Amino acid sequence: MITPAEIKLNNSIIFGTFFRNVESEDGKIVYRGDTAICRNDIYFPDVIDFLDNKYKNTSKVNVVMHACSDGEEAYSFLSVLLAQLKEKAAKFLPLDARDIDLNHLRLAKRGIYNITKSEYEIANESLNGNFYMFFEPMPSLGSKDPRLKYTKTVKVEHSLKSLVKFKQADIIEDVKHMDLKNTILFARNFWPYLPTNRVVELADLLSEKADNSFTLIIGDYDRVIVDLLRDKGFVEIAENIFEKPKNLEYDSRIYDYEYNSIY
Ligand SMILES: C[S@@+](CC[C@H](N)C(=O)[O-])C[C@H]1O[C@@H](n2cnc3c(N)ncnc32)[C@H](O)[C@@H]1O
Repeated sequence: MITPAEIKLNNSIIFGTFFRNVESEDGKIVYRGDTAICRNDIYFPDVIDFLDNKYKNTSKVNVVMHACSDGEEAYSFLSVLLAQLKEKAAKFLPLDARDIDLNHLRLAKRGIYNITKSEYEIANESLNGNFYMFFEPMPSLGSKDPRLKYTKTVKVEHSLKSLVKFKQADIIEDVKHMDLKNTILFARNFWPYLPTNRVVELADLLSEKADNSFTLIIGDYDRVIVDLLRDKGFVEIAENIFEKPKNLEYDSRIYDYEYNSIY
């Protein structure tokens, strides 16, 4: 049976992405990115506060970042995690970052990015002014894309790179074999890439395997699946963050969040 959420999803055929060209000296496009440093649909310091609190009594937490694209999201999360939690970050490491696309993963392992002024400002603010502890300035790669004004080209610090393991994988095949206990799954700004039947398959798989120690984090472009996630027993516990509680009635945080979002 098709649910209203699935019908809504079927109609969402347009998926806008933030993208930019990175060009070589002679103006050839080296790659086209569709992600950002500290993409501002979640605020990493708040997400990390939430995770720190949720897992305060857990000694090891698995963090899997799927659809990680060219790695900017992975390095953003890791840098804020280290800056904010210091030695307490260890139980969240290493970060398993995965994407279906080998070209994106090649760029992720390279870790060199052109960034805009606003990306730098959000990242530097999220890192308490310590942006350059994690991202080294380097000579500009340049770009002729008139829509974006890059201010900096940066290279991810070696120590940050060593904390992430990039691997190619299809999220659905991966989730089939994944233990979701004490696991955080970032699956952000990618759901509309999947055909509807695969979206439902993934939501079903997560719902069957998850308990309340699991956390799912989505992006603004994924809001079309929120009703579907609710149909599958997930609740939005903070903006773009979902859990599958044991007992809906007795989790006051759900009502607090929903009350605050409505009023
Ligand atoms: C718009 S990017 C999202 C990047 C990042 N998560 C963010 O929010 O900025 C979407 C990514 O989804 C990846 N993707 C698409 N289908 C996938 C699948 N079945 N399994 C894993 N990754 C997939 C694409 O290769 C692409 O890198």
